[in-house]
Formats: sequence, structure tokens, C-alpha cells
Amino acid sequence: MRNKVSIIGAGMTGATTAHWLAEREIADLVLVDIVDGMPQGKALDLQESLPIIGKDVVVNGANTFEATAGSDIVVITAGLPRKPGMSRDDLLSANAEIVGNATKESLKYSPEAIFIVLTNPLDTMAYLTMKVGDLPPERVIGQAGILDSARMRAFVAMELGVSVENIHCYVLGGHGDDMVPLIRHSNVAGVSLADMLPSNRLDAIVERTRKGGGEIVSLLKTGSAFYAPGAAVAQMVEAILKDKNLIVPAAAYMQGEYGLKDIFFGVPVQLGRQGVVKIIEYQLNDQEQAALNKSAEAVNQTVAALKSLVKF
Ligand code: NAI
Ligand code: 2OP
Repeated sequence: MRNKVSIIGAGMTGATTAHWLAEREIADLVLVDIVDGMPQGKALDLQESLPIIGKDVVVNGANTFEATAGSDIVVITAGLPRKPGMSRDDLLSANAEIVGNATKESLKYSPEAIFIVLTNPLDTMAYLTMKVGDLPPERVIGQAGILDSARMRAFVAMELGVSVENIHCYVLGGHGDDMVPLIRHSNVAGVSLADMLPSNRLDAIVERTRKGGGEIVSLLKTGSAFYAPGAAVAQMVEAILKDKNLIVPAAAYMQGEYGLKDIFFGVPVQLGRQGVVKIIEYQLNDQEQAALNKSAEAVNQTVAALKSLVKF
């Protein structure tokens, strides 16, 4: 039986996710968006590209959710992106309504689906999806950590002139400016990152990573990043569909791990066919734990704002 992945929101990140996924040839795809003709047009265009790259995938577009029936995975990208000067949290009330509705509608047609949430504010939208859908925690994962870590990896690769494949970086915490790039757990071909770069360069890379989303927003001016976020979602989808048990940083529901409870938060997560198979706990020093606690506090504030807007 063929796998099926539905992507709710066929804007920049949704369409780019579909593009990366079609190249991987791991699932038939459905794009859903409220804009008349747009998901159908993008789906047809993508379908027509596949003979060129030699991939057999069926891609459909729709304005309603019937076409998503029987999805193995639902990816939620629907919502507003940031504009210059906006924080991810500024998107809360508009996106809460959109994500809540997308979750409920998707579940009507795919009651067993695993949800990957991309819409911002990310950790809070993943929390909303789990609550509104009454889903078990292992079936909801927020995408942030792969992207934030990839940004850090890209910056280190540029700095050292070394292949990105040699660079392993781990950015944990909430998907906001208090995210926690973990230098001590990052390495270049097994050599600690701290031994590869002087502290002033490491500080600069940490700062650029934290502001990585904003850097793209201020360059684009009309929206936010989409190539790297789409590639990150595609990696998560592949890990789940192929039951790879791949460990990646991603937002998962905390039930005491890292001393945190009842929030979605970026941690190393083992992804397999059931969704979250396991949360991996690093040994953190006091400074690292304090940084995570600060980031968790920022996520908690957004969740509190969500609870004042939505009853679940
Ligand atoms: P976009 O504006 O290009 O696309 C969003 C799409 O959602 C639009 O096409 C819009 O028509 C659609 N939409 C709105 N309401 C809908 C509904 N009720 N049902 C179906 N579709 C609906 O925005 P983009 O760049 O794709 O970003 C989407 C979201 O993802 C934003 O909230 C953005 O902040 C977030 N994002 C998160 C990242 C992450 O790493 N977690 C990375 C990049 C973006
Ligand atoms: C990013 O980090 C906007 O959250 C999005 O690019």
C-alpha cells in the first residue's frame, strides 16, 4: 500500500515541503489550501515535473479536506508567516484558529494520522494540535530543531570550509530567540566544536543561529524561510514512514523530561512509524539546563496566552 501525506497550507513552506517529498518518492501527496485553484495548480505543476526527475508520485490539490482521507501523516503549515518586525508569537491568535480547524478537519478523514506541525508559534501550535485533536503525545511533533540545527551546521560549515556532512549540531529548546544551541554536544567529524573555533566565533554562530529565522525575514521582507523548513519536514516524514528510528531535534510533548511538564519543547526525539518513539535526555550542565529553563519559560508564556484564547 502506498503512503499518503497531506500538507495543509500550500503556501511557501507547504509547496516546498511537497517538492522535497516528491523528490524522495516516499508518498502520494495532497496539498490543501483555502485559496481557490492554488493548491490544484501547484499540485498539477509538481505532478508535471515528475517525468523529468523520474519519480512516480501522485500529487493532488484541494480546497477541502475530503481528498486527505486515509493520510498516514498530516503536515500543518497553514497560517500566517512573519513579516519584518514581527515575532513568531505575534501570529498566535490568527494561527490558533487556523491550526485548530486544520487539525479537526484532518482527523475527520484520517483518524490515525501522525501530525507534523510547522505553523508558528511552533511549540504552542503543536500543543494546540495535540489538545484540540485529543491525540496521544507520540502522534504530534513540531518541526523546529532540524531547521535551527541545520542553520547552525551551515554557519559552522561556512566558517570552517568543511563539508556539512561532517558537522553535527544540536539546537534544543523553544523555536524562538531563546533557543539553546548546544556547543558542548556539537562536533566536527567527532572533534568538539569548542576545539575547532575560538569562543568569539562560537558566540557569533550561536547568535546568528538564534536569529536565523529573522535574518531571512528581514531579507525577504514579504515572508519567512521555506527551503530549509520544507527540507526539515521532509526528513521527519521519511523517518516516520520508513520507521528509521532517526534521532533529530524536534518539538515533543514533555512529561517530566528535562524537568519540564505539559509543554511542547525542542529535544532530541527518536522518530519511527508510531511518531515519537523516545525522547533522548542529554546530560546537561547547570548553565545548559538554565538556558533550557529560560526558553521553556518563553514557551509557557505563549501557551498561557493561547489558553486565554482557546478552550480545550
Ligand atoms: P504562506 O503564507 O506562504 O502559506 C500559508 C498558507 O496557508 C497560505 O497559502 C494560506 O492561504 C494558507 N491558509 C491560511 N488559512 C488556511 C486554512 N484555514 N486552511 C488551509 N490553508 C490555509 O506562509 P509560509 O511561509 O508557508 O509559512 C506558514 C507558517 O509556517 C507560518 O506560520 C510560518 O511562521 C511558519 N513557519 C514555521 C517554520 C518552523 O520552522 N516551524 C519555518 C517557516 C515557517
Ligand atoms: C523560521 O525560523 C519563520 O520560524 C521560521 O524561519
